[in-house]
Amino acid sequence: MTYETIIVETRGRVGWITLNRPEALNALNTQVMLDIVAASTAFDADDTIGAIVLTGSERAFAAGADIKEMESKSGLEMIMGEHFGQWQRFADLRTPVIAAVSGYALGGGCELAMMCDIILAADTAKFGQPEINLGVIPGMGGSQRLLRAVGYYKAAELILTGRMMDASEAERSGLVSRVVPAADLLDEAAKVAEAIASKSLPSVYAAKAALDVAMETPLAEGLRFEKHAFAALFSTDDQKEGMAAFREKRTPDFTNR
Ligand code: HXC
Repeated sequence: MTYETIIVETRGRVGWITLNRPEALNALNTQVMLDIVAASTAFDADDTIGAIVLTGSERAFAAGADIKEMESKSGLEMIMGEHFGQWQRFADLRTPVIAAVSGYALGGGCELAMMCDIILAADTAKFGQPEINLGVIPGMGGSQRLLRAVGYYKAAELILTGRMMDASEAERSGLVSRVVPAADLLDEAAKVAEAIASKSLPSVYAAKAALDVAMETPLAEGLRFEKHAFAALFSTDDQKEGMAAFREKRTPDFTNR
C-alpha cells in the first residue's frame, strides 16, 4: 500500500511511518491524518507487528496542523470535520508507538508526539504549542496532555506565550523519554521498538492500557484496573514461559498466547 503523504515500511516486527511533506515541514493536513490513521490502524490489526515508530525529517517532525488548510474554516466546520475523531483513533492504538522527533514538533506536531507512548528526541528537537500566536489554542490535546506531562506551570507558560523549548528543556520537564544525538535518532528508535516488539503482545497491550488508564482515572480505579489486568496475564502461556525462562536462566520464547 502506498500513501500520498507518508512512507510506510515494515522492518521485522516494527512498523515504520515517516511523514513526507517536506515542502510544508510535515504540516498535518487532512490527507496526512487519513494516511497516518490508515497505516497505523493496519499495523495495529497485524499481530506480527509489536511496535510502531513515527518519525519526520531532520528539519521537522511536524510543524503543526496545516495552517493554510485551516485558515478559512468556520468554527462549525472545525467541530464537524474529521479532525477530532480521526486523531483519536491514532491515540487509541493498542500497539505502542515511539515518536522519533528531530527538528520542529510544534502545535499539532507536538500534540501528535504526545499521542505516542515514548518520545525520543534528537538534540535538535524543538517543542512548542504556538497556537496562541495564531489567535487559537491547542486543538489536538495539547492543553490536556502537555499539562499531564510537564505540570501546570510549565504547560501554562508554553501555551500562553507560544515559546518553544529545546530538547534538553523538554527532557528536564518530563516531555521526552530521552534525548539522543541527532545522527543516532533512528537507530535508537529502532532499538527501543525492537525491544518492545520482542515481548509478549498480551503483556505489552495490557501495559499500554494500564498506562492509558493512569492518565485518565483516579488512583483507586487505576489500581483496580491494574490488579485485574495483571491477574489476567496469568492465564497466558507467555506468563508461564517468561517465568520458566527466568528460573532456567534462558531467554523466553514468547508465542503471544
Ligand atoms: C502550513 C506550514 C506550517 C504549518 C510551516 N509551513 N509550518 N504550512 N502549516 N503549520 C510551511 C511554510 O509556510 C513554508 O512554506 C514551509 O513550510 C517552510 O516553512 P518556513 O516558515 O519558511 O521555515 P522557517 O523559516 O525555517 O520556520 C520554521 C517554523 C515556521 C518556525 C516551524 O514554519 C512556523 O512557525 N510554522 C508554523 C508553526 C505553528 O504555528 N504551528 C501550529 C499550527 S496550529 P512556503 O510555501 O510558504 O514557503 C495547530 C493546531 C492543532 O497545530 C489543532 C488542530 C485540530
